[in-house]
Amino acid sequence: MSFRQLFDPESSTYTYLIADDATHEAVLIDPVMEQVERDLKLLRENGLVLRHTLETHVHADHITGAHAVKQGLGDGAVVETAVSSDCKASGYDRMLADGEVILFGHEEVLVIATPGHTPGSVSYLWRDRVFTGDALLIGGCGRTDFQGGNATALYLSITQRLFTLDEQVLVYPGHDYKGRRVSSIGEEKQFNARIAGKSEAEFVHIMESLNLPQPKRIHEAVPANLAGGDALPASIHVLPSANAADLHSVSVQQFAERWQRSAIRKKLRLLDVRTPVEFSSMHIDGATNLPLDRLEIQALASATGASDTLYCICQTGTRSQMAADRLRAAGLTHVVHVDGGTNAWLAAGLPVVQGERKIISLERQVRITAGCLTALGVIIGALIHPAGYALAAFIGAGLAYSGISNTCGMAMMLAKMPWNQAAVKSV
Ligand SMILES: [Fe+2]
Repeated sequence: MSFRQLFDPESSTYTYLIADDATHEAVLIDPVMEQVERDLKLLRENGLVLRHTLETHVHADHITGAHAVKQGLGDGAVVETAVSSDCKASGYDRMLADGEVILFGHEEVLVIATPGHTPGSVSYLWRDRVFTGDALLIGGCGRTDFQGGNATALYLSITQRLFTLDEQVLVYPGHDYKGRRVSSIGEEKQFNARIAGKSEAEFVHIMESLNLPQPKRIHEAVPANLAGGDALPASIHVLPSANAADLHSVSVQQFAERWQRSAIRKKLRLLDVRTPVEFSSMHIDGATNLPLDRLEIQALASATGASDTLYCICQTGTRSQMAADRLRAAGLTHVVHVDGGTNAWLAAGLPVVQGERKIISLERQVRITAGCLTALGVIIGALIHPAGYALAAFIGAGLAYSGISNTCGMAMMLAKMPWNQAAVKSV
């Protein structure tokens, strides 16, 4: 998933969840206090790592769930709550300015100052959609008669900032009271009842003639939102959030989906840590062969961008797990191993580049070598000297340790053998 529009029926507020498919990092725009449990569940069930909560403004009709969501994710979560610096609020981690870019995973959100409904109102532009809060609603706009509202400022924000975006950009508002979910800049320019075709003076006149009642919760909501929102209610049970450890492996299907999406492919690298011979016989198109025993971690670290994600793959997942652990220990943060390796990739019917030469895989070489040494030990023990049994016992103990520790010294030794080190034909 990468985008979800959520709704709070009590206040008719939309909350937006955006997640980066590659890293699972996410942002929440305008979370609502009463829906914190829903948002936490959604994050947890989708294995998402929340990085930011973004307020479009200091709301008067509901209390933000920003602080409570952050609390609900537990102490290990690294979440930044953010609001415009023009809101003059406290209790948030980050004060945003016009033109600032918020990064999460491989995604970015641009802050566009759109004052008028309140002095600190901002819109957030992400890809082909803009989240306008109460600056621009579908067919309307937010009121300007309290909280420092200014109809002239709102007219300029809508006409000079939002209406200068591409007409195809989708408009996702902060509220809708008629069940509408999304519009576009083009539609609002043409059909918005308050501003389409209106002069500044006409717009100001409309806004000054609205005579709307005050929001029911204004005296409770505004002070709470100026302070970052209320604490997490005791009734909501805190469960550990998804964290980096949860994201350290992906299935071959998940990886294939990411690898085949050209838009994010440039930020991904696939390291195949099998031997050169294994790689030559078959590999995934675009992979780089870096055998586990030759992994030059520092060189790799300096050649990898801070936001790049490294995926490690081997035949079954054991060597790639070891490689990923070493890379993370060296300080690389976005390192993921592909569960099940090339065996699972082939079993899923996914495409590979086939080499001409067929080889015996390292896993089969281990089985053959261990079997032969065990049989040899027993034969020597029975026919020549009892010490032969020690060899068989040693091999058996080694296999048991290998299974428990998920490492394999014999495989590492065999990987260095000349028949596993043939020159790589193509990478
Ligand atoms: Fe508002």
